[in-house]
Amino acid sequence: MNLIDSIAAFRSHSARLARPLGLVPTMGALHDGHMSLVRRARRENAALAATIFVNPAQFGPREDYHAYPRDLDADLRKLQDAGADVVFAPSAAEMYPAGFDTYVDVGIAERLEGAARPGHFRGVATIVCKLLTIVRPDRAYFGQKDAQQALVIERLNADLNLGAQIITCPTVREPDGLALSSRNAYLDPDERAAAAVLYRALTRARGAASPDAARRLVLAHVEAEPLASLEYVSVADAETLEELDTLDRPALVSLAVRVGAARLIDNILIE
Ligand code: PAJ
Repeated sequence: MNLIDSIAAFRSHSARLARPLGLVPTMGALHDGHMSLVRRARRENAALAATIFVNPAQFGPREDYHAYPRDLDADLRKLQDAGADVVFAPSAAEMYPAGFDTYVDVGIAERLEGAARPGHFRGVATIVCKLLTIVRPDRAYFGQKDAQQALVIERLNADLNLGAQIITCPTVREPDGLALSSRNAYLDPDERAAAAVLYRALTRARGAASPDAARRLVLAHVEAEPLASLEYVSVADAETLEELDTLDRPALVSLAVRVGAARLIDNILIE
């Protein structure tokens, strides 16, 4: 497995990679959610690239960029064991050199997480556009855990003719339903137990008769957990993310919850 930190070196190396080439972009601190993408990309492609880059542009000024967990050595061991051919792990200066001044804005980014975290998806779309342009994969793999992110990336890949096939993979969960996330590391044991409320609330909403009933069920359920506070709950069209009045089409039920120092998100699809 090759570890590369410069764009020029990656470009000259990538010409030698077999095709089809699969790409798994990550911010590192790899857990089994990330590794499910890596394993699938390994199975479906002749060569496998992963990227590790904690992207400063997608963190707000008061967010956790500096505290975000980083463990490059452990990540490289996991990727090596999973059969990755190359890992691209650039510095912030390599990706955003002095004078950098071009950003990608995707319309669907204004809702939900985009409304709660201004500028977040602009940073995500910009870095993913750069990574897809540098790596030029045949397929790129993302998690349903970040459902809106996957929609933003599908849109920008289509609109900017980046030519990758975008593949969205199911959310990997702990036995109590908590979605695996690098940010779960911020939880103390009591908070970790409380964090199971996200998935419990979502599964309650599955049986609701209307979007409003689903929103109320989620709110009541999260409010009953003293260590958790609901930031938003949404029941939206699974493709456009417009809030729904009736459950007449596939819906994405999503929520953001604060538990201690962690801000956690999760979602389920109702077909
Ligand atoms: P990161 O949070 O490291 O996640 C990398 C990929 O793993 C994303 O596609 C995410 O949706 C997926 N993932 C995370 N937890 C998962 C879980 N429990 N089950 C399945 N997939 C999961 O998302 C990012 O990084 C960044 O925004 C990035 C796309 C790399 C751009 O910087």
